[in-house]
Amino acid sequence: MNVIVVKDREQGGQKGFQVFQTAYQNGAKVFGLATGSTPVTTYEALTKSDLDFSQMTSVNLDEYVGLAPDHPQSYHYFMQKHLFDQKPFAQSFVPDGLNDDAEAEMARYDQIIADNPIDLQILGLGQNGHIGFNEPGTDPAVGTHKVKLTESTIKANARFFDNEDEVPRYAYSMGIASIMTSKHILLEAYGAEKAAAVKAMIEGPVTTDVPASFLQNHEQVTVIIDEAAASQLT
Ligand code: F6R
Repeated sequence: MNVIVVKDREQGGQKGFQVFQTAYQNGAKVFGLATGSTPVTTYEALTKSDLDFSQMTSVNLDEYVGLAPDHPQSYHYFMQKHLFDQKPFAQSFVPDGLNDDAEAEMARYDQIIADNPIDLQILGLGQNGHIGFNEPGTDPAVGTHKVKLTESTIKANARFFDNEDEVPRYAYSMGIASIMTSKHILLEAYGAEKAAAVKAMIEGPVTTDVPASFLQNHEQVTVIIDEAAASQLT
């Protein structure tokens, strides 16, 4: 893993942008995208840049089950607001949270990933070490799957909803196996609340207890963290 420590998430966003820019210049055509607070500064830098994604494809990591694309807390909506409105892609894939047929949705999304191999995948990191919605204990061999969110993730995400009861209990997520097929992975993490997960991801054993630790097995991972998130590294 190539670990880059920055002062704060603003600086991290600039670095994250540079990783996108380099991938772009090297011919990347398919970008795997994440939601949440972490990638926002990178997306801001992308929207301000002159990079043109109108011939590119994006494939998002995950979506809440039960939320329509126009729900303000859906990941569709988030991507529209933070990136796609300013930087449209030729095609953008996000799991369909309204598809009740989980098996069909999982197969459909796995086919999308197979048809559009991801050149650069951006990831955030859960406080419990999750990537995408792959919570601790997830079998690293599975592809897209329906996930029951853990209490810690529900609590962490409640800040985006009026109250905790409104946070959906399930999500569709790319699996660890799908994430690992990306050519290059960029993980960003900011804040002291991510420090323990960062340490476990980089310095701990590779274990299903810390889904992000599987990234140690990937050849090309760039980790951008701020000083607070790096504070427990030895
Ligand atoms: C989002 C996602 C999640 C987040 C993680 C960190 O698409 O897959 O794994 O990256 O929960 O969330 P934030 O960035 O809000 O701290």
